[in-house]
Amino acid sequence: MAQLATSGTTVTLRVHRFSPKPARERDRARGGSPFARKSSPFGDAASRPVRRPRGRQWTQDYTLDVRGDETILDCLLTVKRTIDPTLMFRYSCGHGMCGSDAAAVNGTPTLLCKAKITDWAQQPPSVDDEGFRRTGDGDAPRMQTGEDGTQPGGLGIIELAPLPGFPVERDLIADIDTMLEQIKRLKPYLIADGTLATTEDGGVDVLPFLQTPEQLAKYEVLTTCITCGACEGACPVYAGGEAFVGPAALINQARFVNDSRDEATYERLEAIDTADGIQACQSVRACSRECPVGIDVGEEIWQLIAQVKEREA
Ligand code: SF4
Ligand code: FES
Repeated sequence: MAQLATSGTTVTLRVHRFSPKPARERDRARGGSPFARKSSPFGDAASRPVRRPRGRQWTQDYTLDVRGDETILDCLLTVKRTIDPTLMFRYSCGHGMCGSDAAAVNGTPTLLCKAKITDWAQQPPSVDDEGFRRTGDGDAPRMQTGEDGTQPGGLGIIELAPLPGFPVERDLIADIDTMLEQIKRLKPYLIADGTLATTEDGGVDVLPFLQTPEQLAKYEVLTTCITCGACEGACPVYAGGEAFVGPAALINQARFVNDSRDEATYERLEAIDTADGIQACQSVRACSRECPVGIDVGEEIWQLIAQVKEREA
């Protein structure tokens, strides 16, 4: 167990690590020919089978001294700079704007930069001498120990793993290409009639594009989606995107379907009314619980289902 010895309370990050097999080794295992690849090099990412990366997996504990107001991303940066430069994770803005650092924290899809360690650190469950978890029956079982046999102190342990539902690239970095391809495939841009109204002096006349506050309210919250993938990670149907286009792509479409300026509503509803589109949604609504920008993802998808049905009527 790697440890940073400084003063203050401590937290232990228990990180699920993954190191992929080098590409050459993988190719040799398939006979050394690019034609031996299992997936077509010509298909788009959304139609390719989910890649199951091969490599070495292990769990590593990092115990470090912390202040109570630090985030998990702060701690990972400390680990990277002072303990283990090989630890891999992704981030960019550091304050909930870019969506690049979603990972599973104690199993829950969460942005690392918004997750306060005091909210997530937990003491490990007690186990008895046979290794079974105990639920506090007064037998005073001992606490679960770390890799080196010591009991965690301080704030406790935070378990970190890559975002569920996506193939892992390395350590905490998930490959979210399938989600981005699915969003791209459904035309994530405003489709107007292509004619710009002009003013008498030849400028662009913006008046036809003005909206009332009510029209804006129909989709404004949906524009705040940061494509973090937390909703996809929480969705039990998504699981890689083969059977279901996923909540993030549907939220992106809802944003345009509800925009009075978009003129492709019918085509958009047609495009998502497929077996792997909105029909695959089981309305579990786990997606709503994890959205870091507060979109009620399940409810928005439910509204989209109603619009798809209205179009059929
Ligand atoms: S809807 Fe929310 S959880 Fe889903 S990708 Fe957008 S911001 Fe992330
Ligand atoms: S680093 Fe940008 S959202 Fe967390």
